[in-house]
Amino acid sequence: MAHIELERVCKTFRVTRKQKGLAGAVKGLFRPDRREVHAVRDVSFAIEPGELVGFIGPNGAGKSTTIKMLSGILYPTSGRVTVVGLSPQKQRRAVVQRIGAVFGQRSQLNWDLRLGESYELFKRIYRIADDDFERSLAELCEVLGIGDLLDTPVRQMSLGQRMRGELAGAMLHEPDILFLDEPTMGMDIEVKAAIRAFIRDINQRRRTTVLLTTHDLDDVEELCERLIIINQGRIIEDGPLAALVDSITPHRYLIVECDPGTGEPLAGFAHAHAEVLERRDSVVRIRFARSQVSASALISELSARYPVRDVSVQEPDIEDVIRTVYGRDVGG
Ligand SMILES: Nc1ncnc2c1ncn2[C@@H]1O[C@H](COP(=O)(O)OP(=O)(O)OP(=O)(O)O)[C@@H](O)[C@H]1O
Ligand SMILES: [Mg+2]
Repeated sequence: MAHIELERVCKTFRVTRKQKGLAGAVKGLFRPDRREVHAVRDVSFAIEPGELVGFIGPNGAGKSTTIKMLSGILYPTSGRVTVVGLSPQKQRRAVVQRIGAVFGQRSQLNWDLRLGESYELFKRIYRIADDDFERSLAELCEVLGIGDLLDTPVRQMSLGQRMRGELAGAMLHEPDILFLDEPTMGMDIEVKAAIRAFIRDINQRRRTTVLLTTHDLDDVEELCERLIIINQGRIIEDGPLAALVDSITPHRYLIVECDPGTGEPLAGFAHAHAEVLERRDSVVRIRFARSQVSASALISELSARYPVRDVSVQEPDIEDVIRTVYGRDVGG
């Protein structure tokens, strides 16, 4: 059974636009300027237990709206949402026990309590047994490095300390699924690294299914094997990161440095699946079709014919790939 399932899910917000001035306000009373925002349109995907999936898309694409429907905060306008086989809307209590959620912009911790007291509250809310709580907390404190913060009032914690506190809080009851909406937003390099280590740890050690929203492509590159990309409310890509990169940029680059003073580098080089892009001094940049010829085959071919001193392979930039995907016309 899939852990997370969406079938043809739509979410439409009805918003009333404020009209200018007193006249506008009066007019608005009788003829309000209503508008529909199609935040999520016909979205379907399924995530299996233990997957770690990156859910990405530009601002306003519908990521947070989707995660809110999955965690039962919002109702879909149409379609079916299932989490661990249950409806987050109709079986909210049961689903809440099985999921954890962290929203980058909103705190779940009680700002008037010390961090440890906040966790005691979660223990009661989720009815966590004493020894389970102790074990879970100790484990999370170690991975997130927050053991020293338990006596600190949440209000006094820095942004990075609080985010680590939020993550531990969301995992205390050992949920099967964790929804993370921009957990690394605004964090410094060290906190980002700690958050990534934590995500990797719970996914590998506890086999927690993770749906991660982020604008940080290092998060994606370091953590996610699968990517779901949403744009203007529609899913535009869903699959392994490597396959996406390949389909968008089937080319790789080879930088070949020849021995200087041996004439034009790679003179007369011709290949069915590779071409010279530029020659500068003794360095040549070659573009090749990865599916047609491997880098190693090309390198041995070149070294057999030319005085090659050094070779490096250039991978495409994930950022360029994602930009290309976002930029594609999604229509409708
Ligand atoms: N409560 C709401 N009422 C009206 N419109 C909303 C509401 N929540 C979201 N929207 C609209 O729905 C669309 C999707 O918003 P959503 O927050 O899901 O985007 P997102 O992908 O999370 O973007 P970001 O990367 O900026 O967080 C946007 O056009 C947004 O303005
Ligand atoms: Mg969002």
